[in-house]
Amino acid sequence: MKLFKILGMAGVSLSLALAATSCGGGSGDSDMDAFVDELMSKMTLEEKLGQLNLPASDDIVTGQAKSSNIGTMVAEGKVGGVFNIKGVEKIRDLQRVAVEESRLGIPLIFGMDVVHGYETVFPIPLGLSCSWDMEAVEKSARVAAREASSAGICWTFSPMVDICRDPRWGRASEGSGEDPFLGAAVARAMVKGYQGDNLKNNDEIMACVKHFALYGAPEGGRDYNTVDMSRQRMFNEYFAPYKAGAEAGAGSFMTSFNTIDGVPATANKWLLTDVLRGMWNWDGFIVTDYTAISEMIDHGLGDLQQVSALALKAGTDMDMVANGFNGTLAQSLEEGKVDLGQIDAAVRRILEAKYKLGLFEDPYKYIDPSRGEKEIYSQANLEEARRIATETFVLLKNDNNVLPLQKKGRIALIGPLANTASNMPGTWSVAANFERYKTLFDAFKEAVGKDAEVVYAKGSNLEEDAELESYATMFGREMRDPRSEKELLAEAMRVAAGADVIVAALGEASEYSGESSSRSSLTLPETQRRLLEALLSTGKPVVMLNFSGRPTVMTWESERVPAIMNVWFGGSEAGDAIADVVFGKVSPSGKLTMSMPRSVGQIPVYYNHLNTGRPKADDSKFEKFRSGYIDLPNSPLYPFGYGLSYTTFDYSDFVLSSDEMTENGTITATVTVTNSGKYDADEIVQLYIRDMVGSTARPVKELKGFQRISLRAGESRKVEFEITPELLKFYNYDLEFVCEPGEFLAMVGPDSERLTVLPFTLK
Ligand code: BGC
Repeated sequence: MKLFKILGMAGVSLSLALAATSCGGGSGDSDMDAFVDELMSKMTLEEKLGQLNLPASDDIVTGQAKSSNIGTMVAEGKVGGVFNIKGVEKIRDLQRVAVEESRLGIPLIFGMDVVHGYETVFPIPLGLSCSWDMEAVEKSARVAAREASSAGICWTFSPMVDICRDPRWGRASEGSGEDPFLGAAVARAMVKGYQGDNLKNNDEIMACVKHFALYGAPEGGRDYNTVDMSRQRMFNEYFAPYKAGAEAGAGSFMTSFNTIDGVPATANKWLLTDVLRGMWNWDGFIVTDYTAISEMIDHGLGDLQQVSALALKAGTDMDMVANGFNGTLAQSLEEGKVDLGQIDAAVRRILEAKYKLGLFEDPYKYIDPSRGEKEIYSQANLEEARRIATETFVLLKNDNNVLPLQKKGRIALIGPLANTASNMPGTWSVAANFERYKTLFDAFKEAVGKDAEVVYAKGSNLEEDAELESYATMFGREMRDPRSEKELLAEAMRVAAGADVIVAALGEASEYSGESSSRSSLTLPETQRRLLEALLSTGKPVVMLNFSGRPTVMTWESERVPAIMNVWFGGSEAGDAIADVVFGKVSPSGKLTMSMPRSVGQIPVYYNHLNTGRPKADDSKFEKFRSGYIDLPNSPLYPFGYGLSYTTFDYSDFVLSSDEMTENGTITATVTVTNSGKYDADEIVQLYIRDMVGSTARPVKELKGFQRISLRAGESRKVEFEITPELLKFYNYDLEFVCEPGEFLAMVGPDSERLTVLPFTLK
């Protein structure tokens, strides 16, 4: 009976059938079907369309939900959910309007871009993926879910699982890099972390896999741009993480802005209905991206009425902000351009989501301010974020073991990223509370205590050109220093002069990456390069900490700077985490999940490419009439899977349990990994496979297994990978998922280039 409390509150008859008779939904949950049938039978067309409407929260002020524009619409039953409201009171007030003032009292869902944490912010997803630690990834999502739910949020627009091979695209920061196998593992871990085992609990929130699909492959790396690729490529190289998210039971999917086969994803029936719902048998609801419906007018697909009908008919259920469904579907229905069955199917999916979240049982289940006080930015959560962040930094170079630094003497910390708290969390930190976070300078001082002195100078602005800098700091995350480049540099040189070692905190500010932050040049901004050059000219050891939301081009730096570590944007605890690694409390263990190019001209450069008919025999030199460049090798500067440690790892005794495998059998690959250095550390052991002959061209290698292991100094461990026929499968020309008998290579090693190879045959 409890289920009908909400309807009762709104004064609607409680005599709804409790009998478990399913009449239409067919979801497999007869109670839910009966409930939704009954509720839908009471709904007017206007109320149905209201459920499909997801406006943004812009005008909500605490205590005034009722009188806000959205509040009025909610009371009229014209809203299904609202997103990006921070504050449990505001959410409670608006929910109260929905439940108590609207005719049917249908609760709202409250969404937010909780992409890598709520107030406890974890590293940006690209950084997080470099940990290759699926437990950590899941844990980060779990903490995010607990914090967000305690603030009234029940739905997150995450995980973002778009495969990306183009670091010009600013949203590379939000995904897990270039590899579908790793990306699928991350997708599973994130969905599990957010949704847990039972969405009816009040600390688990609904995931939204985005952006479906292929958003990470825009032409020229320019955000929102056209995507066009073969279906073989979609299925073999881009779809796996979306599919994994669907199979993990993600409650919702978000469409992408781009076109696919010329049709915007939001109106692409093949994509949404045939692939996602049909082939993958997924039964959640589909929300559009922000104004993706009305953007189809600019794509040239018609006026708002036309594009809204196209979206609905393709399988889209909820309209984010465009007001196309709410505004035009009634007319389309009247004119016979859509039918009621199509509208009902969408409404049903939204109501089912609310049911699965337990909102009909208790629309206030996420409203408990006392939970937030205990949960948000708790000591336990921030310790977790700090620990996980240390796993994400990638040590690219460490000549003469400059790192770790000793806590002694005078350490000069110089650069535009050295003393800024607001730039630590990175893109999509909607709920971040910058006042609570430390700068790197503060963290370094705390880490060394009385043992050493840390001195600081900004050294340069992010860019010499103030206008350019303003584009990358639009939301006010950086204060530009009014001094000239000359003055800033002179100060830095004075500070550096008295130091024993220099740490240069350089790179991108937080907003150089993320949405609408594509870059055509990926090198260090000129003014920062000049600063670095001046610091190097002192002859003192220099450590470069590269902050970035994407792989950047560091060819110049790699030739000159003795130690380079990529620290991405490490989240709210980035300062402490970087100090932990720089001063050797933790050995770096992150490995790249996106290749770092030598130059922008190489893009896209990725490890799992096809071979071409004219591969080079020796990539280190130019070969006429072979596939390559006159002026550069094909290989990236730092390959996929690459990352150094303070210790060294030796790989030995690689064996396969058999060199033959049957279609139903498995073989085991075993390798011994030894920590041959002086530090206890983690290593990420990687397995790649190459299919030597296929009915279509096959990649030169594909990641098919990885394990993150901890080894004490001197310790050895046997690492085993099971090779199953499933791992050998791919989508053939007819898009059948098959493994083809023949020769394969198994490869094991510390990254995608340093590999030991053994052949085997699939019978
Ligand atoms: C982004 C999405 C995000 C949405 C809601 C869009 O602009 O592309 O990733 O979830 O806004 O904030």
